[in-house]
Amino acid sequence: MGQPPMIMLGIESSCDETAAAVVAADKTILANEIASQIHIHAEHGGVVPEVAARQHLEVIDQVVRDALTKAALTMADIDGVAATGGPGLIGGVAVGTVAAKAIAAARGLPYYAVNHLEGHALSPRLCDDVAFPYLLLLVSGGHTQLLAVAAPGEYCRYGTTMDDAAGEAFDKSAKIMGLGYPGGPAIEKVAASGDGTSIALPRPLKGTAGCHFSFSGLKTALANKLQQLGGVDKAPINDLAASLQQAVADCLSDRTSNAMTRFQTDFPDQKVPTLVIAGGVAANHHIFAALTTVADKAGFRISVPPAKLCTDNAAMIAWAALERQQRPDPLSFAPRPRWPLDPDAPPPPGRGVRQ
Ligand code: KG4
Ligand code: ZN
Repeated sequence: MGQPPMIMLGIESSCDETAAAVVAADKTILANEIASQIHIHAEHGGVVPEVAARQHLEVIDQVVRDALTKAALTMADIDGVAATGGPGLIGGVAVGTVAAKAIAAARGLPYYAVNHLEGHALSPRLCDDVAFPYLLLLVSGGHTQLLAVAAPGEYCRYGTTMDDAAGEAFDKSAKIMGLGYPGGPAIEKVAASGDGTSIALPRPLKGTAGCHFSFSGLKTALANKLQQLGGVDKAPINDLAASLQQAVADCLSDRTSNAMTRFQTDFPDQKVPTLVIAGGVAANHHIFAALTTVADKAGFRISVPPAKLCTDNAAMIAWAALERQQRPDPLSFAPRPRWPLDPDAPPPPGRGVRQ
């Protein structure tokens, strides 16, 4: 009989979700628990870092206990502990890191500090047999990135946002239109009865070379249109929402097309290359359809991890650690608010670049 697969406890706390998961090296997800703070942040129309950190601290022990209960295991069955070590809201990252280190120290287990973006980048391999290399479009409230994923630890960032993430553009625009938080699902719902061609909005960077994104101008343009059309009470919110959704879909499609061309040059022997789309914004049907069209045209197959694995979760953190079982981190690891996956990537023009 061979060795039983390693069992990893994963912890995620870098934004507004406190999550714990138990994953085996044979890809069995034994538990994937999430305590969302959305209801707490909804009244502020966005995540408040200090409130988030306090809330993580309050629930983390219980979420870890819940994950073990769900997995029908005890701490004695765990072979390693992983936690998001950054990038993210540092108060939250510190809470998860301290919890993981405490368990690792008390139990004499290996500890893994996982890059949150690496968790997203490797998550498709947990559910779909996606082989390296693949192209990843990560579109969430915190990130909008195009990455070539060659192997664990080997990433080439093709593009990132120069300002807001795509989901952030939805969230901020929804707030402006009085649609509540999180904005993406609210905008998609209202957009269903609107005309996406009715209100002219910009497509930042569309048609230019490269794979970077920019969304903050779009939000400003939407705010201006809203005022011109008489404000929240008079403006056709459904048309505005549909036009915004269309503009985001166009930008994402354009930049992803450029990335697919570059990927085929970088990895010419891929017969049917894979485009993985991950993050909350991928849940938008209109955007997903637009991306499917450009991927088909470029000859790429699309893989979308199930929502539970491609929005923020702890199973992806446990899995990223399992991809490098033999290389744990020292307990002296310090949480990193910034932690680029590809430190060599040239920064896009402009300031405030997201990692
Ligand atoms: O991946 P995710 O759950 O969390 C992180 O941000 O990491 O993504 C949440 C983001 C929010 O900005 C939310 O507005 C957006 O994804 N989102 C959507 C939709 N569902 C969620 N955006 C557009 N259309 C949707 N249906
Ligand atoms: Zn994330």
